[in-house]
Amino acid sequence: MKLNSTKVYETAYEIDVIIDINTRHSSLLLGVNTINGELLQLFFGEKCRSSSPKVPRGVVKPGSELYAAYSAFGGAETDVALRATHADGALSTELVYDSHLVEEEDSNRTLTTIKLVDKHYAFSVLLSYRAFFDENVIECWVSITHEENEPVILHQCPSVELTFVETSNDYFLTSLHGLWERENELQEERLYRGKKVLENRYGTWSSFGSNPSFMLSLGQPSTEDSGPVVAGALAWSGAWKMTFNHDAGRLFYDKADRRRLNVTIGASEFAAEYHLAPGEQFSTPAFIFTFSSNGRGTASRNLHRWSRKYCLREGGDARPVVLNSWEGAGFDFDESKLLLMMDQFASMGGEMFVLDDGWFGNKNYARNNPSAGLGDWNANRTKIPNGLSSLVNEAKTRGLRFGIWIEPEMVNPNSLLFEAHPEWAIQQPDRENVLYRDQLVLDLCNPKVEAFVYQSVAAILSDNSEIAYVKWDCNRSITNLGSTYLGFDRQTHVWYEYVKSLYRILDRLAVTFPNVMIQMCASGGGRIDFGALGRSHEFWASDNTDALQRIYIQWGTNYIYPAIATGAHVTHCPNKQTGRTTPLKFRFDVAMTGRLGLELDPSVLPERDNVYVKAAIEEYKRIRPVVAFGDLYRLVSPYGNDYCALMYVSDDKCRALVFAYNLGHRLQHEHEKLILAGLDAQQRYRISEINYRDDKRAIDFDGEIVAGSDLMSVGISVDVRNEFDSIVLELHSI
Ligand code: DGJ
Repeated sequence: MKLNSTKVYETAYEIDVIIDINTRHSSLLLGVNTINGELLQLFFGEKCRSSSPKVPRGVVKPGSELYAAYSAFGGAETDVALRATHADGALSTELVYDSHLVEEEDSNRTLTTIKLVDKHYAFSVLLSYRAFFDENVIECWVSITHEENEPVILHQCPSVELTFVETSNDYFLTSLHGLWERENELQEERLYRGKKVLENRYGTWSSFGSNPSFMLSLGQPSTEDSGPVVAGALAWSGAWKMTFNHDAGRLFYDKADRRRLNVTIGASEFAAEYHLAPGEQFSTPAFIFTFSSNGRGTASRNLHRWSRKYCLREGGDARPVVLNSWEGAGFDFDESKLLLMMDQFASMGGEMFVLDDGWFGNKNYARNNPSAGLGDWNANRTKIPNGLSSLVNEAKTRGLRFGIWIEPEMVNPNSLLFEAHPEWAIQQPDRENVLYRDQLVLDLCNPKVEAFVYQSVAAILSDNSEIAYVKWDCNRSITNLGSTYLGFDRQTHVWYEYVKSLYRILDRLAVTFPNVMIQMCASGGGRIDFGALGRSHEFWASDNTDALQRIYIQWGTNYIYPAIATGAHVTHCPNKQTGRTTPLKFRFDVAMTGRLGLELDPSVLPERDNVYVKAAIEEYKRIRPVVAFGDLYRLVSPYGNDYCALMYVSDDKCRALVFAYNLGHRLQHEHEKLILAGLDAQQRYRISEINYRDDKRAIDFDGEIVAGSDLMSVGISVDVRNEFDSIVLELHSI
């Protein structure tokens, strides 16, 4: 044992190296304490014009102590980020600063890489922070390597550790929760002392249960346009964990009240120890975060702007209006039915026909319900006698592009694939495998399975080279975790290797088929995360297509994820999921705030509805750039109100859209007041109501010109007095 004269309660600092990771409006300051070599988080928040006030010198006031930028299990008694067992069995790691490098990647992106090393072992941790200056976003991740003589076991190594030391202050957490058909419900809570853990162990469904994202208000609950907020999201499509530990921090011998909040976010460590070989590198998923000093609206817009520019595939291209066959046809279709749907959709101005589940598998394994066919990716010749390519051509002759549904990570035991390769399913020896939706998850950790999955999709896309869109579904979670391919000592790697393999497949497909759009779907909104979104164009927000419930689902989802990627479809009424009937206009007005699509059988719509649908699609195409690329302003929340409203404003503030919805009838309540936001106070805007039906208008000032400043102070009144009344206003600067 060695003795160190530093006492645990010593609070003196001598900071020499200061690392300033900054964006236009935020600063993350790290510093090295020369007394012990520790890398500290000095500050994260609103941009510091000068770092010096944030740099402690000498002995600090009780309660103002600082914490490690990435702590490791060793001497401290508090929670830590990293925990590893070294090759010789030692449980502790002591990280000290070694060096850092700042690279200007381009005029907007700066990558800072900081090397920490263990004081004793040949074990190093690289902390990477990429700052996106204009978007006020930081992306960070951690990479670990070592040169010890045997593998090191990584028990926990989150993507980020952030510590907030707001003496006597409070923290308020906003997070998104829900399972199938009730995704992304907002939950807001005060973080009392203790540990709040949000964790997901579905393995494939990264965003059921909770979404891997949050907003954290510091000191007071934030509003849309006030209060300091940190918003973050983990870019990972597997199991994850977010820990918010509100504690008193390290033990000090004084009476100061300490309310430290320590936040760690990363892949879940549950049954996930990673045996890291000498020379191998382990990299965590990336964590994306932003700081806003003026509320959640800015935090959302920062993430939206970042995701369109740096995350989503082709985030600068507007998405097509889709007709998806699922709710309109289900498994019950033949070629003539599909052609009729295409005919109608084309006449409505549609752009992309997507054939959902049910088109593959043959004979005993024909996919006529969920119990068979997954894994056998050949067109069902009974339903589609002329094959997929003929359907693609039929769509083309009608002026439509064609998309196809697949669920390539899965296998039904009732399939040729499973007959040939039962060992390819995730499983545990000598245990009965649990079926979910009659299917099993393929073991992507096995390179042969990875190659098969890639090939299955690649074959569909190369045999039918004009397929323009893939709906990539994933309808079960991982249970009976185990791989027949990985060795006995690597079984806990499945969580990690599965997602890495999935990402390799998607990345490879993106290179080979760069023009094919991908929609991420996982039993609805089960895979809405920035890892999946970085490899796709959009996500299916929920299987719940009830317009009223979609308001809440999309409201929560768009706290973090952008409208351009939010698949929102108009379906038949009564709604399949809830039985509720809402007006067609209401359904359109809700779906138009995302990527509009239809999911119905257009051939059975009455002529009157056909005319409206056609006009609404045309209107949507006109306003699409404002929804897709504009800034979102939430005006009135659906939570706690019986109407709600939101806006999109174009980047140049010349165009805007206002959407308002009645959520429940209130007697004698006629006009709702809306204070608009995000406009240019100096400009004047012409206001027109669009998307109305039967000449029924909700405003009596159609065509009027109003100053932006008045719209944002006095506001406007809209008449959405009856249940499911809705309104869309278009504003043009003149
Ligand atoms: C679940 C998806 O969320 C639905 O949209 C649909 O594609 C079905 N799977 C098909 O099985």
